[in-house]
Formats: sequence, structure tokens, C-alpha cells
Amino acid sequence: MKEEITILAIESSCDETAAAVVTNGRTVLSNVISSQIALHTVYGGVVPEIASRKHIEKINQVIEAALDEAGKTLTDMDAVAVTYGPGLVGALLVGVAEAKAIAYASGLPLIGVHHIEGHIAANFIENQDLEPPFICLVVSGGHTHLVVVKDYGEFQILGRTRDDAAGEAFDKVARAIGLGYPGGPKIDKEARNGDPHAIAFPKARIEGAPYDFSFSGLKSSVLNYLNHAKMLGEQVNCADLAASFQQAVVDVLVEHTVKAAKEFGFNRVAIAGGVASNTCLRAAMRQACGQAGIRFYYPSPIYCTDNAAMIGCAGYYEYRKGVRHGWDLNAVPNLKLGER
Ligand code: KG4
Ligand code: ZN
Repeated sequence: MKEEITILAIESSCDETAAAVVTNGRTVLSNVISSQIALHTVYGGVVPEIASRKHIEKINQVIEAALDEAGKTLTDMDAVAVTYGPGLVGALLVGVAEAKAIAYASGLPLIGVHHIEGHIAANFIENQDLEPPFICLVVSGGHTHLVVVKDYGEFQILGRTRDDAAGEAFDKVARAIGLGYPGGPKIDKEARNGDPHAIAFPKARIEGAPYDFSFSGLKSSVLNYLNHAKMLGEQVNCADLAASFQQAVVDVLVEHTVKAAKEFGFNRVAIAGGVASNTCLRAAMRQACGQAGIRFYYPSPIYCTDNAAMIGCAGYYEYRKGVRHGWDLNAVPNLKLGER
């Protein structure tokens, strides 16, 4: 194998059209993201049909910009990596079809990448010393998983959410208190002015499944609190509510993760996914890991939310294992973690 493998990576699973050029899985030469957030904000969430249409409009410009920024052309590439699931089917199809066309026309190998594996791999970009095995908490808009990263592309799932994903809970609560979409960053900001101990919200622990999560009870509890205040004609302190809700989510995430690291004997913990950019989660995890003598890894916020650099990183390790997809590669909206 060549010493230097450069991959063009494409990501279009939700509402970001993204392309990146990554060398040897860890060196990001460019990372271009065209966000559709403003477009979906008026609807209070991602509208799948609008997302697909916008991806089609933007994808060629984003790829061109990624190659330009990297100072490369397609002839410098060794492979094309693309997210093929999980995600919105119409959105995924845009990236998959584009990657196939580029790979076919330029004679490059095609590598389909799992979106969540990409999120986990984002940790390798800025932590050159991080190698499996380690524990990773994956918290995004659609997923909440606690996993052992046994090797590159090899996972053991210890726990998952039974209902809402962590990011989904942030988005739903933000909508309920009128903060708008996307909820995570808005609650994060609002919570900075609030008291995290002002309201005691429930923290679900599931009997017999110490690493599983549940956020729907917490969400209902916030809605009940709001309804109750409305009935009594009382003013709700939004900052206190945001801070208390966020603390309840973060406490459970940190508690489960550190417990798993101790139980399974890992001294390295990483976080990944959009919610991993939450300032309260980062601070609480840093503190808990520090106290337990665990090294804590986390990507910069730009590598936490959807991006293509993480796909180039995960794609590189797939490439090294000899993974190559055929022209029949399809979008798989419900692709499970570890599934090929
Ligand atoms: O990983 P991601 O960009 O997309 C998915 O794969 O789902 O995650 C998006 C999710 C959204 O639910 C968003 O509200 C949440 O990540 N998020 C945050 C923060 N930034 C993004 N949640 C909490 N705090 C944040 N700062
Ligand atoms: Zn994502």
C-alpha cells in the first residue's frame, strides 16, 4: 500500500452538505460544510424533501471547494468515501450517487461509510495518540450509544437509548420553551445564565440495563412543568429550566460512561456526535474522568456536528482493511452500528 492515502469524503445524511480531503485518516486538508440550518429553522426541524433538494444544488460546489482548499485534484485522490447510512434516505442518496459518479468517472475505489462510525472517528483527527480500544459515548440528533471501540471499525454496543436520542431531547425541549431549532446549541447558550439545580428533573436509570438511556420521561417532565406553570399563570424562568434540563441529561450521560469505563477497565473515554459539543457535557465529563484517572478525548465542535472530515477518517481505516463497495452501493437509512 502507498505510504500516503488521500481520500475525498462526502457527507449528506441530514442537513449539512459536506466534503473533505483527508490524508491517512488523521490529516484534514480541507473540510467544507454548507449548512441548511437557516432553511429548516422556519419549519422548526429538518424537512427531508427540502434537505435533498438543497444537497443536489450544493454538492458539486462543496466538493470543488474541498479539492481547491486542499490544493488537490481528483487525480491526487486514492479513494472516494461517502456516508451511506443511517440518515434521511433522500439526503443520503444525493451523496451516494455523487460519490459513485466521481469514483466511476475517475477510476477510484468507492468506500461506503457508516455515519456514526464517522462521528466516533472524528476523535482521531485532533488526537493523534488515540488508538482503539477505548469507550465512546455517541450522542447525536438521531443516536445515543455507549460503545467499546474494540478496533478501527469494530464496536461492542454496551447501551443505547430506549426512546429519544439525547439531541432529539434537546431539540424537543428547546421547541417547547420557544427557543427554536436547532435546540442543542440554543439550550446550551440559555443554560449559561441559569441555575442547573433550580428544578429537580428525573434522571432515568433502567433496571437491569445500567448502560441504556431514556430521555422521554425527562422530556415529559419538562412539558408538565411548563403546563403546570401556564395553568397557574406563573412566569417560567427559561434559563433555569434550560440549565436544569441540560444538567439532568448530562448527569446521566457522564454517570453511565464513567461507570462503563471503570467496569470494563478502560482508562480512555471519548465523546462524539452533535451533543458532544455541549459545553456542560464537556466540562462534566472532563471533571468526572479526571477524578477517576481516565483520559478524556473530545473533538472540536466543528468535528462533533456533521462534517465530511470524519467520513474521510473512518473511510481511511475501511480502505486499509480492503473494504471496497460496488456500483450497487445504496443508501441504508436504518443502518445499524457495526453492520456492513
Ligand atoms: O451529529 P449531529 O450534527 O447530527 C446527527 O447525526 O444527528 O447532531 C445534531 C444534534 C442536534 O440534535 C443538535 O441539537 C445537537 O446535536 N447539538 C447540541 C449542541 N450542538 C448540537 N446539543 C447540545 N448542545 C450543543 N451545544
Ligand atoms: Zn451526525
